[in-house]
Amino acid sequence: MAKNNAQWRKDMELKLDYNNMMREFVGVDQGFSEEDFKDNRQLVLNAYKTVQANRGTGMMGWTELPYNQKEIVEDIIATAKDVKKKFDNFVVLGIGGSALGPIAVFQALCHLRHNELPKKVRKAPKLYVEDNVDPERMKALLDVIDIEKTCFNVITKSGATSETMAQYLIIMKILKDKLGAKAKDHMIATTSEKKGNLIKIAREEGLKTFYIPDGVGGRFSELCPVGLLPAAVVGIDIKELLKGAAYMDKICKNKDVRKNPALMSALLEYLAMQKGKNISVMMPYADSLKYIADWYCQLWGESLGKAVDKNGNKVYAGQTPVKSLGVTDQHSQVQLYREGPFDKVITLIGVENYRTTVEISEGCKDIPDVSFLCGHTMNELITAERKATEYALTTANRLNYTITLPEVNAFTIGQLLFMFEMETAFAGEMLNIDTFNQPGVEGGKNATYALFGKKGYETTKEEMDNSPKKNPEYFC
Ligand code: PA5
Repeated sequence: MAKNNAQWRKDMELKLDYNNMMREFVGVDQGFSEEDFKDNRQLVLNAYKTVQANRGTGMMGWTELPYNQKEIVEDIIATAKDVKKKFDNFVVLGIGGSALGPIAVFQALCHLRHNELPKKVRKAPKLYVEDNVDPERMKALLDVIDIEKTCFNVITKSGATSETMAQYLIIMKILKDKLGAKAKDHMIATTSEKKGNLIKIAREEGLKTFYIPDGVGGRFSELCPVGLLPAAVVGIDIKELLKGAAYMDKICKNKDVRKNPALMSALLEYLAMQKGKNISVMMPYADSLKYIADWYCQLWGESLGKAVDKNGNKVYAGQTPVKSLGVTDQHSQVQLYREGPFDKVITLIGVENYRTTVEISEGCKDIPDVSFLCGHTMNELITAERKATEYALTTANRLNYTITLPEVNAFTIGQLLFMFEMETAFAGEMLNIDTFNQPGVEGGKNATYALFGKKGYETTKEEMDNSPKKNPEYFC
């Protein structure tokens, strides 16, 4: 079938199967009923209306990213072309929302061993995303890259994050020492146009710069230059990513919760939270989606984990997100998911058609316990194992649902990212919390500034100095 036509797009639509959240499948104690849906009709409608009414405003600028970046996308594609021509490595310096999206999309849409492929086959620079300040990791990076053949992309919306700015300082010094005035050609900045220090530095240094729109928070930023530039550099079709997001957006505009997978999954998770299910496990059955689970964990955890609601009441809302990988974690975590406390909702992500087929070779004919595998494919095995986990969880009355991707491509990944973002926004409204702030993360950032003697953080430093001293008796 011709790719990218209307029928192809329809065939590529994500599916949500929530049978195993219902009483008929997991029993009356655990499962939900039509009554639950009816009782929460108004709550769902209000959440839907608020999210739709706030689109494109305040911190919901991310809803418009599939539509309002035409010129930016062209600039990104042209810049990526130039980077590909000149450099062997592309290194992202960023953390949190400025790193997890680029990692997730790279893993999903590039060859799983991209960096190890020969240059001729790779046809794009190697990608490294440095999202920590572990000195050993920095040294290891510098051991494997040729700085003269490397382009760095420093990403920080606030332009102030200690980890990212420390990395920037280290790398810029090395670049200047080695390349002098040409250093600036090896650094691209992605940051806020109006706020923070990085924009000032970028202007002084004459760096190529991309902007993170005001209404786009870190964890909602993958579909702006934060994620689009690294993706374009490694050859990902970023227009298709955005088309996938727009396609899902259209689906999420449906008021009927039964036709809106983001609204339905938000409702199911909300109902589960009301029943004390404090853990949300994300378990893709594909290595390519392994870091989508990581990205989801930040999105869900940082957005919904809030001490107070919009009225200032103490609510301590949220669910602890856990990443898991099918089938790998069947051999570690699933024991707990099936037999441990009834405190989890497990989201399985299935893939209908993997991008390759691997046959299991004939052999061991005399050993039926092994030879039953012969004549099958790894594709059949991983799918059977997902179904087996679904069965095992359901028969143990464990809440679970499955999102299916017809295949992993830029269009379906765009849909998946946007669906999770919308689900998070809907769930935040149902919980009546501010989905888009992160006072907890900022508290940690401020404490670091204070410990490092940053101006303006003297009170925090004093508070920290006056906090109870560690008791030596509690060490062993
Ligand atoms: O989602 C968020 O806002 C955070 O996780 C940020 O992305 C993270 O703290 C990095 O911030 P910045 O991009 O300002 O460096």
